[in-house]
Amino acid sequence: MSTFAYLKSFFKDKDVASVTPTSRFCVRHVCQPIDFSKDITVVEYGAGSGVFSRFLLENMTVDSKLALFETNDILFEKLQLIDDPRVSFHQDSVEYVSSVLPENYIGNTDFIISGIPFSFLDGEAKSSVLDQSYKLLRVGGEFLAYQTSGHLEEPLQETFGNVKTDWEWRNIPPMTVYEAEKRMT
Ligand SMILES: C[S@@+](CC[C@H](N)C(=O)[O-])C[C@H]1O[C@@H](n2cnc3c(N)ncnc32)[C@H](O)[C@@H]1O
Repeated sequence: MSTFAYLKSFFKDKDVASVTPTSRFCVRHVCQPIDFSKDITVVEYGAGSGVFSRFLLENMTVDSKLALFETNDILFEKLQLIDDPRVSFHQDSVEYVSSVLPENYIGNTDFIISGIPFSFLDGEAKSSVLDQSYKLLRVGGEFLAYQTSGHLEEPLQETFGNVKTDWEWRNIPPMTVYEAEKRMT
């Protein structure tokens, strides 16, 4: 059961930052901007045991792609139970995302979904992950994130020049939901 895997991981690894998977309300809220009728390329940061990944796969077209990043051993093992040809698994930190992914992701990614605890990254690492994310996205692509506080608004505004925030109460704990678009410069 996923909650047990989270609890076990949480006590061993501070980066897990949650004792339970994200609620289905929050998953739907974060993914609301995605147009699932098109073939899309999605990269997920901090996929955990795959609550977002499974929702995405249920809704994505057969020719869409999903790249999953997860560092925790226990959660990565659970994540790999997903058996789907559209998925690639990466047990790497997203600090190295642009060197881990094949080059054709650069400038062609439609959505990045991120649940990693950005507040645990130092300033340099945070900017580097956001800069790499900006480069991965196509123009019109979006960075969609969920965090337990509003601390990511300013860094996203600095990197993307725009950011919308919303609030999802139906999650333990409640989440700030972010949406930032890569616009034409
Ligand atoms: C708050 S949990 C979210 C898990 C899952 N996506 C969910 O919604 O239930 C954050 C996840 O990010 C992972 N994580 C933390 N830092 C990471 C990093 N630098 N690179 C990749 N994954 C990371 C943690 O191991 C954890 O599984």
